[in-house]
Amino acid sequence: MPVTHISGTDDGVVVVDCKAPPPIDVIPRSCYSGPEKSQPPLLIEQLLSELRAAFNAEKDAGYVIDNNQDPASFNRLNQRVVELLKCYATTNRGDWHRFALFNDLHYVRNLVEANDDFELIVLCWKGGQVSRVHNHATSHCWLTVLDGEMREVQYQRTDPPAAAASAVRGGDGSDEKPGDTVYVEATRTTDLRIGDVGYVSDHLGLHTVGCHVSPEQLAEWQQTARNGFGSGADSWQPEGGVTLHLYSPPIRRVKIYEDNTVSERTPGFYSRGGVRV
Ligand SMILES: [Fe+2]
Repeated sequence: MPVTHISGTDDGVVVVDCKAPPPIDVIPRSCYSGPEKSQPPLLIEQLLSELRAAFNAEKDAGYVIDNNQDPASFNRLNQRVVELLKCYATTNRGDWHRFALFNDLHYVRNLVEANDDFELIVLCWKGGQVSRVHNHATSHCWLTVLDGEMREVQYQRTDPPAAAASAVRGGDGSDEKPGDTVYVEATRTTDLRIGDVGYVSDHLGLHTVGCHVSPEQLAEWQQTARNGFGSGADSWQPEGGVTLHLYSPPIRRVKIYEDNTVSERTPGFYSRGGVRV
C-alpha cells in the first residue's frame, strides 16, 4: 500500500493512504476463529455491519445496552462481539493498517466508527506506552489485539495502606468525583496476544493497558515483516502493539486514578477514518 506524506502537518505525522477498501463478498456469519481453521477473512466493513446487526437485535428486543444491561441480553451480545472481534483479529489481511497511526510520546486512539450505540477504535502503542488506571463510565469495553503483544492489568479499590486491615473494596465508583482520594491495587494481570479478547466494565474494576515489547523483540517482528511473513501484503512494519477497542455506549468522560487521586477527562482521537485530526 502506498504511503502518503501529508504536507503541512506541524508534527511530521505520516498518514497512511486511505484508499477504498476491497469489495465485500461473503459475510462469514458463522465465524468461529482458530488457527486450525481456514476461513475467509473478515473485513472491517463486514465487522462493522455484523456489530451493528448484533446491537440492533438487542435494541429491537427492547434492551438498553450499557453495563447495567439485562444479563441474558448481555450474554447474547457478549458472545457475538467476542466471536466477531476474535474472528476479525485472526483472519483479516491487515485492512486495519490504514487506521493505525502511532505517536512517539504516548499511545493514541484512532477512530474507525462512532455511532449512537458504540465506538470502534484502533489504539496504537509503542513499546513502553501504557495507559493510566482508568474506568469506563457506564460502558462495556471489549478489546482484542491486532498486532504485537499487550498486557492488561485490572485494579480494585482498597483501603488506605495504613489501615489496620487493608482490604479490597467493592462498588463501581460511580459516586467518585475529581479530587477524591481513592487507593487502588493491581489484582489481575493478563497478557494478550493477537486474537485474544478481553472485557472490562466498572462492575469488574479499573484497568490499564500497555505494550511492554522489548526493542529486541520488536526488531525480530520487524525482520519477520520485511521477510514477507507479517500480517497483510502492504508495507506494514510493526511498531509495538495495536489493539481494537469496542465501547458501548460511546464513552464521553473517563476517570483517571493517579497518585491516589481521581481526575476526569474527555477522551479524544488522534485520527478519524485514517486521517489525522
Ligand atoms: Fe480501558
